[in-house]
Amino acid sequence: MSDFKLMIPGPVYVRPEVLNVMSSIPWGHRDAVETPKRMKPIRENLKKLLYLENSDYEIIVSSSSGTGLMEAAILNCVADDESVLCISIGAFGDLWHKIVESCGKKAVKASFEPGNAADPQVIERYLKDENFSAVTITHNETSTGVVNPVKEIADIAKKYDAFVMVDAVSSMAGIPISVNEWNIDVIVASTQKCFGLPPGLAVGAVSGEAMKKSEMVKRKGTYFNFLSFRDSNAKDQTPTTPNEALIDTLNFQLNYIINEEGLENRFIRHSKLANIVRDWIGKDHQGFKLFPSYDVASDTVTCIQHPPELDKNSIKSQLREKGYLFDGGYKKLVAKGYHTFRVPTMGDMTEDILNEYLSHIDNIIKKND
Ligand SMILES: Cc1ncc(COP(=O)(O)O)c(C=O)c1O
Repeated sequence: MSDFKLMIPGPVYVRPEVLNVMSSIPWGHRDAVETPKRMKPIRENLKKLLYLENSDYEIIVSSSSGTGLMEAAILNCVADDESVLCISIGAFGDLWHKIVESCGKKAVKASFEPGNAADPQVIERYLKDENFSAVTITHNETSTGVVNPVKEIADIAKKYDAFVMVDAVSSMAGIPISVNEWNIDVIVASTQKCFGLPPGLAVGAVSGEAMKKSEMVKRKGTYFNFLSFRDSNAKDQTPTTPNEALIDTLNFQLNYIINEEGLENRFIRHSKLANIVRDWIGKDHQGFKLFPSYDVASDTVTCIQHPPELDKNSIKSQLREKGYLFDGGYKKLVAKGYHTFRVPTMGDMTEDILNEYLSHIDNIIKKND
């Protein structure tokens, strides 16, 4: 089906105009004309997106998924004998913890019940009790649809001289993030979420201090060495051969976000779409409720708790026939007694697509009753 729509929280629906750019002709990635034509505007627009103009942050564009740059943050900014405090409110906080341990560094996990955001006071207690050189946090926990108070926690982490590493995979380009003002040292994201692009690229920003730390840290491998990205940026190039088709889509889409849709309008649209889903939850759906509390609920993905007897397999197969991929919720939550499904509102989702999708779900539920 040519217009099949991904209604999962990444990879997301991609506009036809973006898909057209995917078929652009590859260029020579060491060509002093073609590569800067793309990399310079990409870095400039990413700085605008993250409110980093006139800062000393280094922009990173990596031909990997977001996990690659999460690993890069640890490899570059944590020495072998240092410890990291990994905040977890769900699957992707756990991912930070796994990455830190698998890079051979000491990791301590501060976990919070699914559906909740991290509590800054609890985090402060961890930081008071033990010396951590870095704190990792998920901005928007995709598995539960919860937004963490990154600025508040980063302010506390800075009191204890810890670097702040933020996974913004499902929030960057979706909700506002003032990277410098929020005291973030390393922030990373993937293209297949709020950027509304296909998967395959990761982007990030690294503070001047974090760059200095990378100069000191040994054994950080080759592919994800921040210093190589800095050297390449100085030439408007990339350290290795990039995914060129995706670089073209990123350039195209950033120009669209900054100069056509407008950053603030994009954020407002996501917020409006999330409100449509929240209103829908309250209408006629016995037993559906917003999984997180309203004050920490995400604008880019809504997690809905439902009664265990809801036949999600039937909903999924009927939606597939209609041309949509339904998200049946994060599987590990079931073991904790939470039955959920998620509705994404990130990227280039429109009110028309969302309303049509929700009305298909309504019809299927009515038919199944
Ligand atoms: C919040 C969050 N962090 C990290 C990841 C991993 O990203 P990637 O699959 O691009 O490596 C995901 C993927 O869904 C995510 O939602």
